[in-house]
Amino acid sequence: MTEQAGLTDGGADLSFEDWIAAIAARTELALDRALPPADEAPAQLHAAMRHGVLDGGKRVRPLLAHAAGLAFAAPLATVEAAAVAVELIHAYSLVHDDMPEMDNDLLRRGKPTVHAAFGQANALLVGDALQSLAFEVLAGADTPRAAQLCALLARAAGSRGMAGGQAIDLASVGLRLSRAELETMHRLKTGALLRASVLLGAQAGAADSRAIDALDAYAAAVGLAFQVVDDILDAEADTATLGKTAGKDAAADKPTYVSLLGLSDAKLLAERLRADAHAALARIDGATLRLAQIADYIVRRSH
Ligand code: IPE
Ligand code: IPE
Ligand code: MG
Ligand code: MG
Ligand code: MG
Repeated sequence: MTEQAGLTDGGADLSFEDWIAAIAARTELALDRALPPADEAPAQLHAAMRHGVLDGGKRVRPLLAHAAGLAFAAPLATVEAAAVAVELIHAYSLVHDDMPEMDNDLLRRGKPTVHAAFGQANALLVGDALQSLAFEVLAGADTPRAAQLCALLARAAGSRGMAGGQAIDLASVGLRLSRAELETMHRLKTGALLRASVLLGAQAGAADSRAIDALDAYAAAVGLAFQVVDDILDAEADTATLGKTAGKDAAADKPTYVSLLGLSDAKLLAERLRADAHAALARIDGATLRLAQIADYIVRRSH
């Protein structure tokens, strides 16, 4: 890939902050194009879909897909389809996660949640429609591997991935999970889509099976680290910084790494996972700088 984000060499000359901004901007445009216009009927559904997807979010999953694509010379158009697809699935998961039947949240990405702004029935349909749109986009990717990429994303989103993890989360309210149980829940509800982001980017390119194994170890480490840090931020950061209501996990009696280990051991775990991610990348013979930088960003972010 020689041109990414409108820049030569995949933006290799950019600082990490500028590269993130370039990929986020590019992703925003691609999401905007993929989503139906807000005035197309049924206009309320389309406006609600756009509310749930556009103008907010760190776009970590698209960043991971692009970074893995860069490491394995994936065609930009294929990586972009993967980045859009996984972000649509993620946005759908947030819309449903915030509903009264799940976490009952009113604030997301600094805005009212979709059900708060458009009603619960619309929020259900937004999730349904975003999930369908994700697979429409990925199935249309210009690669002979489109079906394989769709299967990868479908597994990560389904009952053995994100949706399964969310089911465990709901069933665990008020319980004290063992460390192994908590890890399984986090790996599924959050780790699965982050892992899929990395693997989609790599499989859009030319990663061999040895590289995929190492990349998988990287993805497992950052995937778990991401939710460990989400748990820490829920306990430590404020609502304005997070753009979502802080302190919800303790208030809802959710088992988290903070409730299990305490803040300082949860932070040590996040740092250990960051080191694991770097160690996995050291086994890969490719341009892994952006993947390394994303691991640091995931663990050291403030929101
Ligand atoms: C929040 O994800 C939900 C989790 C899976 C922990 P993000 O922290 O990536 O949310 P956005 O996309 O930046 O809003
Ligand atoms: C969310 O976990 C996981 C998914 C949306 C799949 P959380 O419930 O902790 O996410 P936030 O904190 O609401 O973003
Ligand atoms: Mg939740
Ligand atoms: Mg939640
Ligand atoms: Mg959380």
